Amino acid sequence: MLLIAVERARPADLPRIRALLEAAGLPLDGADQAFETGVVARVGDEVVGAAAVEPFGPAGLLRSVVVAADHRDAGIGRRLVAAAEGLARESGIRDLYLLTETAIDWFPRLGYQVIPRDAAAAAVGQSIEFTTACATTAVAMRRAPG
Ligand SMILES: CC(C)(COP(=O)(O)OP(=O)(O)OC[C@H]1O[C@@H](n2cnc3c(N)ncnc32)[C@H](O)[C@@H]1OP(=O)(O)O)[C@@H](O)C(=O)NCCC(=O)NCCS
Repeated sequence: MLLIAVERARPADLPRIRALLEAAGLPLDGADQAFETGVVARVGDEVVGAAAVEPFGPAGLLRSVVVAADHRDAGIGRRLVAAAEGLARESGIRDLYLLTETAIDWFPRLGYQVIPRDAAAAAVGQSIEFTTACATTAVAMRRAPG
């Protein structure tokens, strides 16, 4: 079995993170900055997944959740989201929001619920994902980490 470590993203991880995002068709705009509060999954030296949280006061935007195609369906995505939620809590973020077009049926399994886009915009509407990077058809979701 592969040993997979989930840990804080480092600046040196950014090129590989960008490649993963690009391969999955996810926005690159604002990603480098978002990964100042981000996590990666590593197999040895190789980054095989990533997730970031952009802080907006007491709210946060979970974004750039990605797992390399050849490592999917092994629970890495779930671990990345849990680790990003932990970082959010440590940063004093109480509510997490996200926008997605590609994983609308996946995030509810992790405790996220669809909400009106306007409700998410009120909390994290200043983010690049909201203003430019994500299509207006993207679905908004929220989780209260507690
Ligand atoms: C979504 C994603 C991060 C999930 O990562 P992962 O490591 O495969 O997820 P997990 O192993 O924790 O979960 C796998 C389970 O979720 C399901 N699943 C995975 N992606 C899904 C999706 N997009 N929609 C619905 N279900 C999905 C799998 O079928 C599997 O189900 P099972 O447990 O019943 O077999 C990964 O598929 C990915 O990188 N997708 C492309 C990028 C993307 O859409 N990111 C979200 C953008 S906001």
